[in-house]
Amino acid sequence: MQQTVVIFLLAFSSATQALDNGLMRTPPMGWLAWERFRCDIDCENDPQNCISEVLFRDMADRLAEDGWRELGYVYVNIDDCWASKSRDTQGRLQADPKRFPGGIAKLARYVHDRGLKLGIYGDLGTYTCGGYPGTTLDKIETDAQTFAEWEVDMLKLDGCYSNATDQEQGYPRMSKALNATGRPIGYSCSWPAYQGGLPPKINYTLLGEICNLWRNYGDIEDSWDSILNIVDWFAKNQDILQPAAGPGRWNDPDMLVIGDFGLSMDQSRSQMALWAIMAAPLFMSNDLRTLNSGARAILQNKAAIAINQDPLGIQGRCLIKESNGIEVFWRPLSNKASALVFFSRRTDMPYRYQTSLKVLDYTPGSYKVYDVFMEKTMPTLKDTTEFVVSINPSGVVMWYVVPSAEWQEQPKFHQAIVKADSFIV
Ligand SMILES: *[C@@H]1O[C@H](CO)[C@@H](O)[C@H](O)[C@H]1NC(C)=O
Ligand SMILES: *[C@@H]1O[C@H](CO)[C@@H](O)[C@H](O)[C@H]1NC(C)=O
Ligand SMILES: *[C@@H]1O[C@H](CO)[C@@H](O)[C@H](O)[C@H]1NC(C)=O
Repeated sequence: MQQTVVIFLLAFSSATQALDNGLMRTPPMGWLAWERFRCDIDCENDPQNCISEVLFRDMADRLAEDGWRELGYVYVNIDDCWASKSRDTQGRLQADPKRFPGGIAKLARYVHDRGLKLGIYGDLGTYTCGGYPGTTLDKIETDAQTFAEWEVDMLKLDGCYSNATDQEQGYPRMSKALNATGRPIGYSCSWPAYQGGLPPKINYTLLGEICNLWRNYGDIEDSWDSILNIVDWFAKNQDILQPAAGPGRWNDPDMLVIGDFGLSMDQSRSQMALWAIMAAPLFMSNDLRTLNSGARAILQNKAAIAINQDPLGIQGRCLIKESNGIEVFWRPLSNKASALVFFSRRTDMPYRYQTSLKVLDYTPGSYKVYDVFMEKTMPTLKDTTEFVVSINPSGVVMWYVVPSAEWQEQPKFHQAIVKADSFIV
């Protein structure tokens, strides 16, 4: 009798099953080379910025020494263009000998010695997008074994130079091959991005069972247009995407470009806020050696990170799109808390948006509100109280909202806030 019940429950919960490698129960955080450093392999003329072991050691040092690791930014991830143009005599991938003279295993040790994790990149196809050796179907087990032997902690498997049939076979097979190595390796699948990101071509139930995260949509660029394009696609398709996410299985709208060249401070806060609402992986692609203090403060905002990392792992949604260019996003959090983002697409001046929690579907009661970027608590709000938020053009106001009665029961988050600005409840 007991057993029947268990089987019945498992059958019903299988739609929300995550890849069973114990990893990434909250969205992964760290640093990824691609958007900022691309396929710069000119180490002779650009030694500090080319794709080489120097770059990844530098970023590991910064993550370990500048307070990132303690906040959860622990992955140091290699992207394309790390490999030699040819496999070794036994058919295994090998790092470019000039740019990675120590090899990947040694780099992994360097990263691990600093309490961090190393991610690597492969491509399910004839070639990687940059023209390096790809992982064809017959090479899947070999490459999984190589990555495990190097003690790599995460694999991003891209999809250039392959077709839908090969992807359908290859992505699940790599998942099995990684598992068979016995080493827990986080698995990022670019599969949906190559097939339009939507059903029927993409089965998100299956993806959740075989991948820890997946790129749904095109590559991010260092521009506000790119952010808007991504946010719009995710909001438009949220009924499909939102239920796909959960502990161990995340939609990935791509890297954070905060600290690069394309975003203003307001736009940077917007990316941080919206990525937190979307329960997105937080992979910075910037130069941590030269990051300005404004970008650093946004990326290290403890409340925004705590919202992103909420243990319930429920992705948020766009609730309201006003014709005046204001949008409201919402994410339910643990302990009856929630996050709200008031986002302005306007291009004129700070907009005074009036609403109430009741209008935003909050249940009757009184609420404590903490403003994430102002780093301060607001006067207690009743659900019916009309309030006004002033939202900068292409900026956000982000709130952490808790029923007043629950406020004292937020030890972890509260501690983060206290640390952030010495605020005392
Ligand atoms: C492999 O999969 C099994 C069953 O799903 C799981 O219990 C185990 O932890 C996995 N191992 C690794 C290394 O991912
Ligand atoms: C997909 O690519 C493989 C080569 O990797 C090829 O053998 C196969 O015929 C292709 N399938 C389709 C449907 O194009
Ligand atoms: C999607 O994948 C799941 C899990 O593998 C499977 O049970 C389901 O039948 C698939 N759905 C479709 C429409 O193929």
